[in-house]
Amino acid sequence: MKPKFFITTPIYYVNGAPHIGHAYTTIACDVMARFKRLDGYDVMFLTGTDEHGQKVEQAAATAGIDPQAFTDGTSALFRQLTDRLKISNTDFIRTTEDRHKCACQELWKRVRDNGQIYLGGYEGWYAIRDEAFYDEGELTTRPDGTKVAPSGAVAEWVIEPSYFFKLSEWGDRLLEFYETHPDFIAPASRRNEVISFVKSGLRDLSVSRTSFTWGVKVPGDDAHVMYVWFDALTNYITAAGFPDESAALWDFWPADLHVVGKDILRFHAVYWPAFLMAAGIAPPKRIYAHGWWTAGGEKMSKSLGNVIDPQDLAEQFGLDSLRYFLLREVPFGNDGTFSRKALISRLNTELANDLGNLAQRSLSLIARNCDGELPDDETASQADDELLGAANALVELVRARMERQAFGDALEDIWKVIRAANAYIDHQAPWALKKTDLVRMRCVLRVLVDVLRVVATLLQPFMPDKMAEMLDQLGVPPDMRQIADLDRPLLSGVALPAPKGVFPRFVDEAE
Ligand code: MSP
Repeated sequence: MKPKFFITTPIYYVNGAPHIGHAYTTIACDVMARFKRLDGYDVMFLTGTDEHGQKVEQAAATAGIDPQAFTDGTSALFRQLTDRLKISNTDFIRTTEDRHKCACQELWKRVRDNGQIYLGGYEGWYAIRDEAFYDEGELTTRPDGTKVAPSGAVAEWVIEPSYFFKLSEWGDRLLEFYETHPDFIAPASRRNEVISFVKSGLRDLSVSRTSFTWGVKVPGDDAHVMYVWFDALTNYITAAGFPDESAALWDFWPADLHVVGKDILRFHAVYWPAFLMAAGIAPPKRIYAHGWWTAGGEKMSKSLGNVIDPQDLAEQFGLDSLRYFLLREVPFGNDGTFSRKALISRLNTELANDLGNLAQRSLSLIARNCDGELPDDETASQADDELLGAANALVELVRARMERQAFGDALEDIWKVIRAANAYIDHQAPWALKKTDLVRMRCVLRVLVDVLRVVATLLQPFMPDKMAEMLDQLGVPPDMRQIADLDRPLLSGVALPAPKGVFPRFVDEAE
């Protein structure tokens, strides 16, 4: 039986249209999911939408429609993005589905029955007009002492009944968990942030609200709906079939990897394992917090009008080029500035020149000088063995990088081999050998095909469509494209299709 791998994206809020930030998380997870499949795993890949809460309730009211109809519409936009980006998710969860409400209520009951939830009062500055609580620091004080929210609404000190989760009791157990599971939070800098946050002391967490109704009802107390994060985080076990722990799906739990943006790490690395441990359920294995994309250094926002639309980019530059760029330009975990110019430059130098030309040059020499048939794989020189050795060593290198979600490093490892192959073809000059030494020419071309095959196989998760084209051209049969198949040599003498450039140069009309 194949080993299992369960990967998740965050579930997206439905109060805005999807932008490049959402696409980034989802694409990174897609690359990871495809890599694991390529490496022989049975992958469950989950994404979806986070549909409850006061903001959604308000947005629906403003639009004059019922919240369910509202979220049906906006959730569909995210599903559409997933389809257009050809994401290979195996499930798409919506928190308004019955399976999810049922999982939330069961998780709640278990935590409550273990004595970890109690009824208390949620105190704070509340602006009725905004239906929102504010921190003291967000408010301004009028001369008469009235507190005013940033929106201009008057805020009052209120006490709202609320259920609390005894988070304050989990600090030591969380710290011990981080200690014994050093790979639980990545990258390391983020792990340290979480550890200092927990060390600074945890307060009990308000996990229900009575001020709005668009949420999952608290079992046994209909006046309360669950706090959105209790509800949202639970999606990950809902999809694994919870509370049916006898179902086959549950074998996927604990999840292998939750990929999240740095802004929501605390919820995933502190609250989530605490909720699960309090219910007697195993926490996930790893949480990776990636950085944020800005538009020219500025935060993207609707009001600034600088939101970058991933579908536009995919249409203009091609989906695979966009995927490559997003994972190559910025080390996963760091912030990055989106730039069209940088995208075009990587497309033209790395994809069109380094990789595309190498394949095109090698394959057209075979088409013209070897009757379009794959030459024998007898190597003859140290240069051949060195290059093939470097290509074959890629599997282990790339696997180790992917294990740590170091996507950019994995690509750099692959590009080192591509650059070495370019140096090799220039040095060996097979176009000159065709006049002096046909046997040697055939050998050089075969080495190049074998190297390109390893490269294209390992690049499939990053650029699935383009690499399928390239593997077709290299004559690699569709049932020989897994990592494990790299041990099986390609048959010499097989007819290759007429070569066709896989990565055309992008000519910038705007320049
Ligand atoms: N609904 C919550 C997540 C609940 S998970 C149990 C949420 N939704 S969100 O729609 O606001 O954000 C979803 C993800 O998109 C987050 O991981 C966030 O970091 C990511 N991004 C949003 N804008 C981004 C950029 N500009 N750049 C990179 N990622 C960004 O939070």
